[in-house]
Amino acid sequence: MSSEKVMVFDTTLRDGEQAAGSRLGVREKLEVARQLARLGVDVLEAGFPISSPKDFEAVELIAKEIQGPIICGLSRAVIADIDACGKALAKAKRSRIHTGLGVSDIHIAGKFADDKYGKTLGEKKVKAIEMAITAVKHARQYTDDVEFYTEDSGRAEPGYLYEVLEAVIDAGATVLNIPDTTGYAIPYEFGKLIKQIGKKVPNIDKATISVHCHDDLGMAVANSLAGVRNGARQVECTINGIGERAGNAAMEEVVMAIRTRQDFFDVDTNINAVEFCRTSRMVSDLLGFIVPPNKAVVGGNAFAHSSGIHVDGVLKKRETYEIMKPEDVGAQKTKVVLTARTGRHGLRHRLEEMGYSLSAEELDHVYESFLVVADKKKEVFDEDLAALIGDEVRMVNEAYHLEYMSVTSGTGTLPTGAVKIRTEDGQTLQAAACGDGPVDAAYEAIRQATGQSPKLDHYSIRSITGGTEAMGEATVRIENEAGRVFIGRGVSTDIIEASAKAYIDAINRMAAAQGDNTPLENPKL
Ligand code: KIV
Ligand code: ZN
Repeated sequence: MSSEKVMVFDTTLRDGEQAAGSRLGVREKLEVARQLARLGVDVLEAGFPISSPKDFEAVELIAKEIQGPIICGLSRAVIADIDACGKALAKAKRSRIHTGLGVSDIHIAGKFADDKYGKTLGEKKVKAIEMAITAVKHARQYTDDVEFYTEDSGRAEPGYLYEVLEAVIDAGATVLNIPDTTGYAIPYEFGKLIKQIGKKVPNIDKATISVHCHDDLGMAVANSLAGVRNGARQVECTINGIGERAGNAAMEEVVMAIRTRQDFFDVDTNINAVEFCRTSRMVSDLLGFIVPPNKAVVGGNAFAHSSGIHVDGVLKKRETYEIMKPEDVGAQKTKVVLTARTGRHGLRHRLEEMGYSLSAEELDHVYESFLVVADKKKEVFDEDLAALIGDEVRMVNEAYHLEYMSVTSGTGTLPTGAVKIRTEDGQTLQAAACGDGPVDAAYEAIRQATGQSPKLDHYSIRSITGGTEAMGEATVRIENEAGRVFIGRGVSTDIIEASAKAYIDAINRMAAAQGDNTPLENPKL
């Protein structure tokens, strides 16, 4: 095993969470951060503090609570952003400020279009270097650990990129993030760029090169690995590869490629890979991003053999068709089944094995829901538990709570729904309505009772485990008047109830965000 390490920089809670439509609450972020610490990530990018009060709060909480990884916050090369990062990270044992700006001509011309940055592209490029230096020096007042990103490096003019890198190292940057922001690079070319940075930037020995690749052409992992092969010693990635557009490099794939092919890479990481499946499932459950069954390393079928020849071969000698052991990435061979007789203690134990650490009060809530499900289903699988726990830690301030719902539908009848909803301040709201189907009728009743009519963008339902008594998980996406998107989820063995819960969850998120509209100076990167 190689002793030289590649640092793993996790950005699930920042770039991953930027993925369209997915938003985590502060409590959910803390739970994911705890699991990432167990997984052994070296750096945990907890958020973009200036972007919203909630992001600030999440970074601050994670910095205070999470031990182990360096806790990092993102900022643009803007003083107010860096100050927000510095403040949010103040309680971290080890903190990092990640600052930077765009370096490709397209980014500079577009983002620095205003004449205050210079009249010509050349002047704007000089100004960008000045801004980069100022930002790094300012960040160094908060921490010695400053990472600089040169956004859109994959399309930048290499000579200019080297110039920026040299300047920010001189200003005090200790890590250089070379992002292929648009997923434009090809592994051969990206590897060459990293190698050239190692040769052409004169003070490069004072910094670590990091790679940050996006998957627009499906090459984020390949590009990251090409970077490692050519001298990068930090990889930025997300669990399940979630992230902007097509996503970021998937951590589980990068790490397992490096580990499985040490003969080629001759480096290793500090990652505790047995935590991969657990982490993947937690992120998928809380963000509502379903992991495809054929996903490398963590997909449900990643270690399933079905054709006769393969099954026969694996049974005779595992290595015939398997290059990794399922147990090395925490893939379970047997699914654990709990029943109503399992008891609170057994339930807590299983939840801890799944990576969740709940307070006594949270456990009480989950136990109550668990008994309801166990009564209906007889056997409760890990997937069911994950859905229940998701409901619990996802819980936002409940502006509206569904107390009662009744829906009638059938051949030849007009689907009708009636709901009774309790508000945060104890009022009871009731309404009954007809609709095109049972879900539509329930949603119309909810709209009438709450007086909230967000645009419904998307509705889906999936069965969590098999069988007719399976739990159903409904996901809805709604949009408020300002075009802001909210995702809600609900689970129940009754799919109409799951659908109603999902709708109310989304409305609660929308209501919770109403106080979160602090105007910010262009918080988009
Ligand atoms: O993709 C990108 O360029 C980024 C930077 C902000 C690091 O996410
Ligand atoms: Zn990115």
